[in-house]
Amino acid sequence: MSSLSRRSFLSIVVTFVLQLGMPGARAAASPSLKPTKVGQVIIWRGKKYTALKSGKKLVWDKGVVLPAPKSSPSSSASATPTPSASPSPSPTPSQTSAPAGSFEMDIAGSNEVPNGETRIFYPSDSRAKGKGFILTREKNALIVFDVNCTHETCPVEIEGPRLVCNCHNSNFNKLTGIPESGPASEPLKGYLVREVAGRILVTDSV
Ligand code: FES
Repeated sequence: MSSLSRRSFLSIVVTFVLQLGMPGARAAASPSLKPTKVGQVIIWRGKKYTALKSGKKLVWDKGVVLPAPKSSPSSSASATPTPSASPSPSPTPSQTSAPAGSFEMDIAGSNEVPNGETRIFYPSDSRAKGKGFILTREKNALIVFDVNCTHETCPVEIEGPRLVCNCHNSNFNKLTGIPESGPASEPLKGYLVREVAGRILVTDSV
């Protein structure tokens, strides 16, 4: 290799390594979902984003990193683990409990949905295909619905005890997913959910 082509080769390698380290070289750094009103909050890739005004536009703020989930097992996790003499890789939840044609996704930490609260999550799992999930913890039980309105699939938002679709003003009960007013006539799609070791796992179909 001539010294000129060696220099070119080195310059390509250095550029590539630098780009790998640059945030802009990775996936988008803010949620793809467009905010619809000031103060709207969503959880995306482990960060909490709040909608604010920038000039005439609504944008997400820089996001606040959520605290890492505690590793202590939740009450619904399996009983005391049995020590094994020969450690072997344990199966992932999706291998153990999702019915055929379905899969489990890790949506959030259990501590991200306190009792009596509702949160919306857009998991980074590629199988979610950008789908959002509304999680409500009521009397210590979790309820999960699809974020998309059953009228014309606009994302619903949390407004007090209801889930509201601002596209055409449909209101849904956040505990049952049933529409209470507006053009939507079908309840929000529900999902199976369980908690294991401080994580919330939602079952979706392929
Ligand atoms: S899309 Fe939700 S009310 Fe029309």
